This record gives sequence, C-alpha cells and structure tokens, in this order.
Amino acid sequence: MTTRTGVRPVTVDDLDLFSDDVLRSTQAVQDELRELAPVVYLPACELWAITRYDDIRSILNDPAIFSSQKVAFNDRMNDIMVGTTIATDPPDHKQLRDALMENLTPRALRGLKAEMEAKGAAHVRGLAGRGAFDGHSDFARDFVLSVVVDMIGVQGEERDLLLVWAEAALNAQGPLNERGRAGLPVAGGMFAWTRGRLTAEDLREGSLGRGIFAAADRGEIPYENRSILIEQIVVAGMETTIAALGNATILLGRNPEQYRMLREDATLIASAFAEVLRTMAPLPVIGRFVKDAVEVGGTVIPAGAQVALLLSAGNHDPRHYKDPQMFDITRNPTDHLSFGYGTHGCAGQGLARMESHALIAALVSQIKSFAVDEVTPRLNNIGRPYERIAIVDVVADS
Ligand code: HEM
Repeated sequence: MTTRTGVRPVTVDDLDLFSDDVLRSTQAVQDELRELAPVVYLPACELWAITRYDDIRSILNDPAIFSSQKVAFNDRMNDIMVGTTIATDPPDHKQLRDALMENLTPRALRGLKAEMEAKGAAHVRGLAGRGAFDGHSDFARDFVLSVVVDMIGVQGEERDLLLVWAEAALNAQGPLNERGRAGLPVAGGMFAWTRGRLTAEDLREGSLGRGIFAAADRGEIPYENRSILIEQIVVAGMETTIAALGNATILLGRNPEQYRMLREDATLIASAFAEVLRTMAPLPVIGRFVKDAVEVGGTVIPAGAQVALLLSAGNHDPRHYKDPQMFDITRNPTDHLSFGYGTHGCAGQGLARMESHALIAALVSQIKSFAVDEVTPRLNNIGRPYERIAIVDVVADS
C-alpha cells in the first residue's frame, strides 16, 4: 500500500478494493485500513472507505446524507437497481419494504420452522455417513437452494439458473472491471425473465413471489416493482446464506474445541451463527452516495462522493469487540454489521437465521467431528462465494 498520512484525507494511492489480491485477503486489507484512519480515500477506485464500527453504524442509520441510490459501484447497475428496496431511500423505501416483509416477518416465518428443521436433519443425514463432503455445494448450497427457490415459488427451468444469475449480479454490483463486465449480460438473463416473461401463474400458489405479484395487483406497490423485488430476493437471499453456512463449516471445523462446546450445548447455536457472521462477513463492502458534504472521524467527505462501508473492518474493530480475531461461540455479537443496520438492515435475516440454525443444529446432532482441508474461494466483486470447501475425516454419531 502506498500511503499518505499527515494529510486530510488519509490516502492510499494504489489500492483497488476489487482487485484479485484484495478479494483474496479482504479481512487483512480492511484491518490495515481501519488502523490507518477512520476514513481513507482510495483514488484508484474513487472511493472513500469508512473503516470503524461506530462510524459505519451511524452512517447506516443516516439515509438522508448517505443515500442508497448508488449502492452498487457503477452507474449501469445503479440504474438497473432503481425500484429495489436496497437502492431506494426513504420515504419511498417503506412501501417497497413492507410488501417484501409481509412474508418475512417472524410471525410469517414461524410456520416454516418445523419443516425447515426436518429438511435440515434429512439433509445432514444424507452427508453424515460419507466420510467427506463439500461444505460449499453439498452442505450449504443444496440446502439453501431447496429452501429459497421453493419459497419464491419458482417452478420452471429457471430454478437451475437462479444461482448463476445471483452470482453474476453480485459481480455486476462492483465496479465494471473484468468481473463486473462479464456479470452484466449474465445477470441480464434474469432481468429478461423477471421483467419480461415472468407471470404470477409461473409462481407457486401461496409462495412469497406470488404474494408480491398479488400486492402489485392490489395496488400496494407500483406494478413495475413486482419483478424487481423478486430479483432482489434471488440476488440478496441465496449467495449470502450459502456463504455464511460454508463459513460455519470452516470456522467450526478449524476450531474443534468450539465445535465440541456447541455439541454439548445446542442453546449456543444462535450465538455461534452470529459469531460466524461477525468473523467472516458474506458481503464485506457496501456502497453509499454522499448527498451533502459531511464530516466523518475528522475528515470532510464532499457531496457527490461514493463511500464504501467496510463491514469486515467494522466487525473486527478492537474499539468495539474484545479480541476480535478470536472465534468465540459464546460471544453472541448480535450487533455485528454483516446484516447491515438501520433503514436497509437485512430484510431476510429472520429467514437466513432460521435456515442456518436448522442446518447447524442438524450438523451438531449427527456429526461428532470433522476437519477442513483445502478451501477454494471463487472471486466475486461483492459476494464471497466458494468453489469448494473440503470437509474431511467426518465422524458420524453412531
Ligand atoms: C446470511 C445471509 C445474509 C446476509 C449476510 C445478508 C446481508 C445483507 C446486508 C449487509 C444488507 C444491507 C445492505 C445495505 O444496507 O445496503 C441486506 C439487505 C437486504 N437483504 Fe440480506 N443478507 C442475508 C440474507 C438475506 C435473505 C435470506 C434475504 C431474502 C430472502 C435477504 C434480503 C435482503 C433484502 C431484501 C435487503 C434490502 C432491505 C432494504 O433495503 O430495506 N437477505 N442483507
């Protein structure tokens, strides 16, 4: 890093937050930026990085100054995202979020709990006797796909394309580097489906997707928003949860004493999952657009600037968490930043927790111990997906 300190803003000239090297070592780079200054200007990607827990949290709660109109890191994608809750500021945001939340509130989800637990138990039963499996595809991906695709209500051939589209859309939300440029046309396949061909009848009766179409028919949300909200669940709801569950296998496999503790006391599952999210954020960077010049941590950020909120840096900020590099399943960090916070705080966090708690509960109740071998990430501008997480030496409960 070529750093200029003693100047305002503190500047790192040669750091591209979306380069291959940085994507491979996100946490280390973000930790270094956080200790350098609360605000660091990165001319290579024309971004103002916000690095510390308290500042990130207050910014997430201040949509009047820090707008989500540029939540993505290029204008093409920001134009495409107009009409999503995630890119809409208050007051228009509320109507869209309410329509989406109708099926995602704790009350609405309660009815799914028993089914989810049974699905999780059956899923792990299929893996337990194998001796080895892939923590990404076998454990996390197949389970999340089976839950979310059915929940949205997708029935046709698009079922097999949703993950490819979601990953491409996350790449396209970064800058238009090679990954971003390649992601745009692939994600375009999803937009052509949702905004062109998809009708209410294509979605299963009683599904969340069908409910969104019905809300548009009743005039509760603008008609053109119905497809956009479905895209949003596809993009926001699957890769993130799959990555989080993959991260759970990595962290629990590499910390066998913590895994043993979790097996002995399953009431720690919620705390353990929160700690997985704090330790490894599935979306390490999110964007905002500065509407009026504003001071953060002693640095004035000009109007029109784009900021990058470094969630992984905030989650490991020693000013907020003691020994932040330690994975401790008893910590229960319910205030971690990985679900965002405030106005746009993750609308699907109840569902993500329910899925993850069910699968982790099945894991600890059926598998005595396991180890993690090679972990191969798949580089993505915004998400943190995996190619493979080799889980080996699996000892099932007899
Ligand atoms: C572990 C899994 C997940 C993680 C880490 C995650 C992370 C996030 C983050 C960081 C935000 C805030 C973005 C911002 O402020 O710009 C967000 C918002 C959102 N998430 Fe999630 N998410 C997860 C699962 C889900 C699921 C399962 C769904 C849907 C079924 C979902 C739907 C949404 C939506 C709709 C928003 C936008 C809310 C709004 O604008 O009001 N997410 N998520």
